[in-house]
Amino acid sequence: MKEQIIKEINQTIFDFISFTEETVLQEMLYYALGFRNDGTLLESGKRLRPLFCCLTCGVISGSHENALLYGAALEMLHNFTLIHDDIEDKSDTRHNRPTLWKQYGEALAINAGDLLFEIALSAAAASDTLVNKFGLRRMMSMTESLFLGQHRDISFENRIDITESEYLKMVEGKTAALLGCSFALGTVAGGADVKTTEAFQTAGQKIGIAFQIQDDYLGTWGEAGKLGKSISSDIMDKKNTLAVVYTASKDPEFKEKWQSYDGSAERVQEFSSAMEKAGAPEYLLEQSKKYMEEAKAILLPYRKEGEYQLILDDIIDSLTGRNK
Ligand code: IPE
Ligand code: IPE
Ligand code: MG
Ligand code: MG
Repeated sequence: MKEQIIKEINQTIFDFISFTEETVLQEMLYYALGFRNDGTLLESGKRLRPLFCCLTCGVISGSHENALLYGAALEMLHNFTLIHDDIEDKSDTRHNRPTLWKQYGEALAINAGDLLFEIALSAAAASDTLVNKFGLRRMMSMTESLFLGQHRDISFENRIDITESEYLKMVEGKTAALLGCSFALGTVAGGADVKTTEAFQTAGQKIGIAFQIQDDYLGTWGEAGKLGKSISSDIMDKKNTLAVVYTASKDPEFKEKWQSYDGSAERVQEFSSAMEKAGAPEYLLEQSKKYMEEAKAILLPYRKEGEYQLILDDIIDSLTGRNK
């Protein structure tokens, strides 16, 4: 059933982004979402957010159909943020292929991202009409948190004194808000009451924090080929990942060296070794697991028998220890 849901999500997205006569712009939207012009798939994202949206809807209501539009909206919004993020982070590779700006230039990529943002909001508005709810409002407020989080993330690049609580606030915005919203909109589409929606949103946010911490881990200790993006760039971009925040709090010498680091490739190994010496990899895996367990505890009273629940459990469990 999971493959079937992904197929339906892809079809919904493809239909939404197929509309323009500007062939280059059309091609760019397809490329960003992982489609060839004929609709077949390139190597693309995990479709995690629409899957969470459809599966939570399935758990609540016994069917995922009503969540497809919200799911597609969330995936398009996610990919819009990735298009802009890859420009902001100067990242060359995503999904083992050149990023949109590398392929088409910065100016066209910014504009294609803007268009994708608009299409995502339109899809959420269309879903509101379908299910007679106000998911778009939730999506807008989530987007505000996401932009604030992204602002913090970028601003932090010039600082070396980030505390763990500042780090968490940044992650709650840039990553967890969207994952929380994916859970929330699934329950909204499934017709749940507000209390249930809030519980799923909180659980989704915790899964988002766990997900980002795992991403920080993979950003230094993962395999580039599996991840589909460069693994040295977090260090070279002087990103304040949890590994950096943690090591700086334990090792004053690291903090000093990190402060004067110019982002050169030759020193990546030196910094990752210092992080290992401080026990950062273990700390990150332990923290990621902790947030995941908290999320599962929140979801416990809402569990249902059936295939939607089993697939949801499976995806949640696969996130701890994921390598892509
Ligand atoms: C990447 O998210 C951005 C982060 C929040 C770390 P994903 O790892 O879910 O990206 P895709 O959708 O699979 O490409
Ligand atoms: C991506 O954050 C999150 C958003 C686009 C909001 P990162 O910059 O940490 O993720 P990757 O490493 O590029 O996927
Ligand atoms: Mg990035
Ligand atoms: Mg970024």
